[in-house]
Amino acid sequence: MRTPFISANWKMNKTVDETVTFFKEFIPLVNDAKDVDIVIAPPFTSLQAAASIIKGTNISLAAQNVHFQEKGAYTGEISPVMLSEIGCSFVIIGHSERRQYFFETDEMVNKKIQTARKYGLDVIVCVGESLQEREAGKTFEVLKRQVVSGLKDIPSDSLVIAYEPIWAIGTGKTATTEQAQEAHNFIRDQLSALYPEASKEIRILYGGSVTPDNIDALMACPDVDGALVGGASLKAESFAKIVNFKRSL
Ligand code: PGA
Repeated sequence: MRTPFISANWKMNKTVDETVTFFKEFIPLVNDAKDVDIVIAPPFTSLQAAASIIKGTNISLAAQNVHFQEKGAYTGEISPVMLSEIGCSFVIIGHSERRQYFFETDEMVNKKIQTARKYGLDVIVCVGESLQEREAGKTFEVLKRQVVSGLKDIPSDSLVIAYEPIWAIGTGKTATTEQAQEAHNFIRDQLSALYPEASKEIRILYGGSVTPDNIDALMACPDVDGALVGGASLKAESFAKIVNFKRSL
């Protein structure tokens, strides 16, 4: 039985003040949420404030990125040691915006996962194809490459995968439930080749224009175990609705 996992990805949004305001509204709205893992990934500058405000709640913290060294001359970077110390439990690795704008490769993704795991962070590893790749019939090829190279020599425990088709991110164009299920099922097959025993336990999240209106249908897909939510996670009320999605029987 895979516990649903709903994570916010705030990207480069919210000051410390805005973060505190969000949590004051959000915490009471999800206080009673049961059997769901709730995770929020604010920008680095808001992590400390978020960590103190969520103490004793059912919410966990994620960072949006991490460097693959524990310390050193890497101006502008943040190490896994720093994230653990501040109270992060998770880190998002390999988001398509990092791959696209900051030239992260599968090898870098793999190194980041290794270091994050070494310092006790659980990882949310993002994979997903571009529109061009989908239209060229290369979706499965891309997903296979990202999963196999990204997860090389990585143990299966504490691993969460997020399938985020790039064409659905921030566009309002969600994948259909058929497209999501097909991709998730394919990813699960890849995972079962890597982790014959554990693959059934690994949560695979869907990301890309998730809203309170489409979450129920997405969560009803057998291989969709949660969501990674950008735009719709910025408002407490809308993200709480997603966390409190209606379960199909
Ligand atoms: P979106 O972003 O929900 O705004 O489409 C999702 C993501 O990039 O993680």
